[in-house]
Amino acid sequence: MELTELYQKGESELRSRDIGWLLDGVETEFVLSNNRRVIDRYTIRQRCIDGVEAKTDCSILGVKLNTPIIMSSMTMPIPGIVDNGLMAVAEGLKRAGSLMWTGTPIPQDLKAIVETGVHVAANVKPFKDRRMMFNAIHEIQAAGVNWLGIEIDSGQGTKVHDRQMASDCSPLSLKELKEIRKDVSIPLIFKGVLSREDAEKSIEAGADAIFVSNHGAHTLDYLPHPFQVMDEIVPVAEGETEILVDGGFRRGSDVFKGLAFGASLVGLGRPILYGLAANGAEGVQEVVERMTVEMKRIMSMTGFASPSDIGRDILIE
Ligand SMILES: Cc1cc2nc3c(=O)[nH]c(=O)nc-3n(C[C@H](O)[C@H](O)[C@H](O)COP(=O)(O)O)c2cc1C
Repeated sequence: MELTELYQKGESELRSRDIGWLLDGVETEFVLSNNRRVIDRYTIRQRCIDGVEAKTDCSILGVKLNTPIIMSSMTMPIPGIVDNGLMAVAEGLKRAGSLMWTGTPIPQDLKAIVETGVHVAANVKPFKDRRMMFNAIHEIQAAGVNWLGIEIDSGQGTKVHDRQMASDCSPLSLKELKEIRKDVSIPLIFKGVLSREDAEKSIEAGADAIFVSNHGAHTLDYLPHPFQVMDEIVPVAEGETEILVDGGFRRGSDVFKGLAFGASLVGLGRPILYGLAANGAEGVQEVVERMTVEMKRIMSMTGFASPSDIGRDILIE
């Protein structure tokens, strides 16, 4: 199936169910429309003479991937989309040489997911009950995942339309981030960085990577798209920590722009759900592989042999 068809089929399948509203955004839904508008603001400088042979494999924080395109943190509503949904996502991402990132709730079968051989990261929310948060941190590490993520942006829980979701959360302090760092022996990522100040504090706390993200429009209304803050974050993070990005990435051209802005990896939220709903494990694999092929075409026509070579000045606003 082509990407457009996969997205259309997957979205209409999800919209026909009672989980469809989870695709929407917080309150006015400004964040969702702004994500697309900001990504579309940038065009790509073509440099096709002496075009290069592009490769998309990359290595980051001890993990080797076929592509810089990964899954963004999600658990709900995957088990309700198809039978054994989480295992199907794991299978699809493994075949694509990508990485699976679980969210809330922490899957009961996290260890079984790891045992499929797919690279796995798992997120923890800043539960008000900090003992519960640390228990979750221990549970995730015991499952043998590659990376652990902390949702620094869920301090007020999550929200879709006017409906408050996780509400048992409160903001983490720098001191607490440092305590978490001491407790985590695998690569640690702080997700939801959207300012220079939070990037600086994340680095001070010892983050191995920061995830520049507006949580796919599920936290606060009127958050910027990552591209609106990358130019203040990249100079702070360069040489100190890896940068990951997500929010509205739907095509290989979008991913190319994310890498040009300085990210090492680009995450997909809703496209993974669409792929799964449209065609199970194969659909998830197809989404990642088709976007990777699109990105590779652009790389070869812009003179970049490797994802890490893509530079900011290839974009024209
Ligand atoms: C249904 C759904 C569930 C999500 N659950 C989580 C979660 O548990 N933890 C988290 O950090 N982010 C969660 N997110 C946000 C995604 O990880 C990601 O940041 C966002 O979806 C990226 O934007 P995109 O969907 O436009 O690609 C969720 C997003 C959706 C759509």
